Formats: sequence, structure tokens, C-alpha cells
Amino acid sequence: MRPPVATFPPWPGAEKAWTFLAPMEGVTHPAFRELIARRAGIGVVCTEFVRIAATGLGPKHLREQVVRAPGAALSVQVMGNHLQHMAEATEIVASAGADIVDLNVGCPAPRVVRKGVGSAMLKDPELLRSVVAAMRERTRGCLSAKIRAGFDDSSGAVAIARLIEAAGADFITVHPRRQTDFYRGVADWRIIAAIKASVSIPVIGNGDVWYAADALRMRSETACDGVMIGRGALRNPWIFEQIEALVHGAVPIRPSGDDVLAHYDELASVLSSGYPKNCLGMLKEQVRYLARTVSDGPRLMREALRCATAVEMRAVLTTRFAGEAGAGIDLGAHGGSLEQSGTCIFPTIE
Ligand SMILES: Cc1cc2nc3c(=O)[nH]c(=O)nc-3n(C[C@H](O)[C@H](O)[C@H](O)COP(=O)(O)O)c2cc1C
Repeated sequence: MRPPVATFPPWPGAEKAWTFLAPMEGVTHPAFRELIARRAGIGVVCTEFVRIAATGLGPKHLREQVVRAPGAALSVQVMGNHLQHMAEATEIVASAGADIVDLNVGCPAPRVVRKGVGSAMLKDPELLRSVVAAMRERTRGCLSAKIRAGFDDSSGAVAIARLIEAAGADFITVHPRRQTDFYRGVADWRIIAAIKASVSIPVIGNGDVWYAADALRMRSETACDGVMIGRGALRNPWIFEQIEALVHGAVPIRPSGDDVLAHYDELASVLSSGYPKNCLGMLKEQVRYLARTVSDGPRLMREALRCATAVEMRAVLTTRFAGEAGAGIDLGAHGGSLEQSGTCIFPTIE
């Protein structure tokens, strides 16, 4: 087996290495990754998963996934269970310049599970071990796996993490929900703490970090080495900047309604030039989260989602956000009342 990377993190910008923008299908395309990376505080941006089917994927298509955002390291996620194709994909993506190649062991979607990949691999530890080992064989670069806590039972989470470590991964990301939970309930950070206490490789915590202060709390309650944020960064695109401010004892930005509108305009501009056909749908996916920052969010979301154009949607958002002071919007670094953050009330689990 090739040796894993010697130091962590092996990419530049170590001081902000511990913040990750999570992989999100249909959302974390190059334009959005770049938009987020332009702001302060982000260490690593992740692509959505690239499905490596039994027929493999052409090297050209794989290389095209490696689109860097200035100022952030890039993690490219692959999903599949065919040993040879996964190994080849790892080599191609790593040599095309990805800082990290990540294996998806968490996607709960039925169409994915039916194929025995994503979270379904949590049910087949031997296959999972073989896939990670085959990927390890083909790269000296940084290799990671992103797992859920289990398929329908989280009692095996530590064993899965140990197996991934033994197969040669350099770090592991943990979203502590089971496949059967989808996104229900609240992420149980105790599972992150338990895994961190049981493996020697770095552990990145993920799940229900809605406010910047949650990221610091997740680190102190679980001892994790890094924090990955998904939906929280769609709802609050300033969250990484706020985290950086908190870390340095500075006063975090308190975005206003006009800041939210400016963000919408930036999104609309990059999406309409990069993805003219899907722009409206992609914008709506993000507006669902932006609307969660105000107490009448469900009404606002319903209105916005009915819009036929990006301009119409802007008008709806303007009526609610224009001139709204920071205090009227739940985007403070220390959190408000609209979202339920992850929890780690007890430091150990049974
Ligand atoms: C729209 C959407 C798409 C996602 N796509 C992926 C994906 O491609 N790969 C992956 O590992 N996780 C994916 N996830 C899961 C997130 O990376 C993350 O684990 C999950 O949302 C929990 O973190 P959060 O509470 O910070 O959002 C997706 C989540 C969402 C909301």
C-alpha cells in the first residue's frame, strides 16, 4: 500500500484549512465554489459527487471536474464501488490537480442506494475497505472518505471509521445521521466525538452547523480537526467569514437585508452566464435557504418559488429584504432562533 500523506493538511493555507464547503449536488458547481471562495475564511471547497459507474468514466470528463477556485483547496468527490474504475478515477483526478480525492459513503438517495453505492456501502464493510484500498494504491495525494453514521443503525460508526483508516485514507468526514434519517432530526455530534477519539487520522465534523459559533462549538465539543458546512453556507454565505472573525477575536460581519439582495444578484449573474438553461432552478434551490433567515420564511419561499423569472424572484425578495437591518434577519454569528444546530450534550455515547 502506498503511504498516506505525511502531514495534515497537505495543501496551502493551513491556518484556514479547517473550514470546508460541503459537496452538494446541483449546488457546488464551479461558479458557486468560486463565489464562496472569494469571501474570507474558507479553506476547502468540494465538488458534488462524480458517479463512477461500472462502465467507468472517460478521463476527459474526469479531468473537467477539476476546476479550482482561487484561494481555496479543492476536493473532488467520487462515488462508486467498482474497484478498478474507482482506482483509475482517483489517479486521473489527483493528477489533474485536485488537492483531495474524496469517496462518497453517505449519499442517502434511493436511486444511489439501489446501485449499492453512497451510503449503501456502509452495509458492506468489506467492499468499502477494498474500494478505499484500491483508491489508495493509485494516489500519493490526499485521500478522504465522507461517511454517514450508519445505514439504519449508528452503532457501527466507529468500526467503519477505523476500517477506512486502516485501508489508507488520510482523513475522514463524518455526517452523524443514518441513511434512514435523510435530513430528519438533529445531527448527533457525539458520534463525531466518538470517532475522533478512536482513530488517529484527522476527523472533519459535518452536520447542522447553522451559525458561525456552532463551528467553534463543534470543534470544542468533539475535538474534530475541521468543520464542513453545507446548507448553513447556502443560508448564510458569510458564515466562513464570520468563523474567521470569531477565531481571531474580531467582530463578525452582521449581514443586512441589502447584503442578502447583493448576494442574490451575484448568484443570478454567475448562474445566468454559466448555466443559462438551468439558472432559474439553481437560483430557486439557493433562495429556499436564503428565505430561512426571516421569521416569515415559509411564506416568502412559497412566493419566490412561484416566480417565472429571476427578475420576478428578485422583486419578491426585495419586498422582504430591502432596508432590513441586520437585527431583523437571522444571520448573526451567534445564532438566533430559526435553526436547530447539532448537538453534543453528552461527551460519550453508549
Ligand atoms: C442539495 C444537497 C446536495 C448534496 N449533495 C451531496 C453530494 O454530492 N455529496 C455528499 O457527500 N454529500 C452531499 N450532500 C450532503 C452534504 O454534503 C452534507 O453532508 C449535509 O447537508 C449535512 O451537512 P449540513 O447540515 O452542513 O448541510 C448534499 C446535501 C444537500 C443539501
